[in-house]
Amino acid sequence: MPAISASAPGKVILFGEHAVVYGRPAIAGPVNQVSVKAIVTANPKAPAGSLWIQSPAIGLDSQWSELPADHPLSVTIRNTLQKLGIQRLPACSLRISSTIPVASGLGSGAAVAVAVIRALSSFTGHILQDDEVSQLAYETEKIHHGSPSGIDNTVVTYRRPIFYVKGSPIKLLHVPQPFTILIADTGIPSPTAVTVGDVRHAWQTDPGHLEQLFDEIGSLANQAGDLIESGKVIPLGDLMIRNHHILQALGVSCMELDRLVEAALSAGAFGAKLSGGGRGGNMIALVDAQSAASIAAALKAVGATQTIITEIREPSQ
Ligand code: PMV
Repeated sequence: MPAISASAPGKVILFGEHAVVYGRPAIAGPVNQVSVKAIVTANPKAPAGSLWIQSPAIGLDSQWSELPADHPLSVTIRNTLQKLGIQRLPACSLRISSTIPVASGLGSGAAVAVAVIRALSSFTGHILQDDEVSQLAYETEKIHHGSPSGIDNTVVTYRRPIFYVKGSPIKLLHVPQPFTILIADTGIPSPTAVTVGDVRHAWQTDPGHLEQLFDEIGSLANQAGDLIESGKVIPLGDLMIRNHHILQALGVSCMELDRLVEAALSAGAFGAKLSGGGRGGNMIALVDAQSAASIAAALKAVGATQTIITEIREPSQ
């Protein structure tokens, strides 16, 4: 049996993080410059059912059966086999490699799940539809943080810019005018579960105020969706700045993210904001393609540990 591989991209949330958990819309796109690759290789000498997993990025080198039952990889593999109706997997090994930084808002957890689900299903001769892959990855996302909106698994599975509302059918965004996003990493890992939990606590304490902030974010996401679909890109920058201010008010920014936002704007970005869970991880800036490299250099000068220049566009463009 030949080795089977599958990959999944990173993602950025352009508008709407956190509010999306509370039913407001959000916009996200894939980041193909970084990815997770999962390779499944048959291991005929091992007993049936044995699955050896290697994932150097997280220092994992172990039998599947030895992982805790609630380990994200255990959950992903168990749910996938159950979905496929497989009682006993032919003996194999699974190697996972990734260039997506962990806990940085680029969707690493969802990408690992999607790549593993696709590799295992192909290895066993099954084809899962995108909605089935996304649903399985959503179950794994619940391990990473208890009440995920589902935006990460959706954009990583579909690999397209999306307008996302929790519980609604996925809406693929039409992007007549592709645009450039510069991503800059604070280098501070920040688990999404912590900021999502803090926002929930704040919402429980003062629901009226938090609902108002979520409404404002939702309104910005709606406006941004209309602008993107009508090809008006530059005004998105102003909406990003306003979204960042509300995320600051929600308490999910931090000094390092604010510094990168300020530096991006000073260096000529049209707009900038944190992206993902916040309090670390990545900042994104809307930039002119020609200035992207010089703005990236300005961000490195104030502490960005890594920068990625990506384009938001439809796959066929
Ligand atoms: O996984 P991250 O850090 O990209 O954050 C996901 C976005 C949140 O809105 C904060 C959480 C969610 O489930 O949508």
